[in-house]
Amino acid sequence: MNQAFSEVLVNRAELQAMCQRLGQQITKDYAGREILIIGVLRGAFMFLADLVREIQLDCKIDFIAVSSYGDSTTSSGVVRIVKDINQSIEGKDVILVEDIIDTGLTLKKLTELLKTRNPRSIELCTALDKPSRRKVEIDVKYKGIEIPDQFVVGYGLDYAERYRNLPEVMVVANEEAL
Ligand code: IMP
Ligand code: MG
Repeated sequence: MNQAFSEVLVNRAELQAMCQRLGQQITKDYAGREILIIGVLRGAFMFLADLVREIQLDCKIDFIAVSSYGDSTTSSGVVRIVKDINQSIEGKDVILVEDIIDTGLTLKKLTELLKTRNPRSIELCTALDKPSRRKVEIDVKYKGIEIPDQFVVGYGLDYAERYRNLPEVMVVANEEAL
């Protein structure tokens, strides 16, 4: 194993259980409705793929890409849409899916923007949550696993675009070794 990683923080079984729990909750909450699931690229791709297989509803899937981080582990605080979704969300029940919520700035800005397009509803769903780092208040209806203030990679999460393919969530202990 790369010596930059110190430990597995969330293993495969925990990730699977998390997706099942969230998928069941969403299936129940939106019974009889069609939902539009929007994944925030690129980090959410793996979680979204697992999550949607646990949702027993008619759903459409789209992706949006924003840039809020450069190649470092600290937030720039700037959120920019790099790739927009390909459809109108007017009158739709939208669930925005993220890999991790850290300061909350990305999802806050993105939700505000999407609300101006008049969806019927919009809720947030995240695999990981670092509540101790929050800078703005946001209401997250579907939360996976709370983690401490540590930089993590894997399960879609990157360090300078690498390590997204690791199947588990790993803690980065030694940045110099990355
Ligand atoms: P926020 O705007 O500070 O909430 O940042 C959210 C985004 O920052 C996520 O979508 C990730 O791309 C990135 N991010 C935050 N924490 C981590 C981490 O521990 N590892 C990898 N990416 C992270
Ligand atoms: Mg990232």
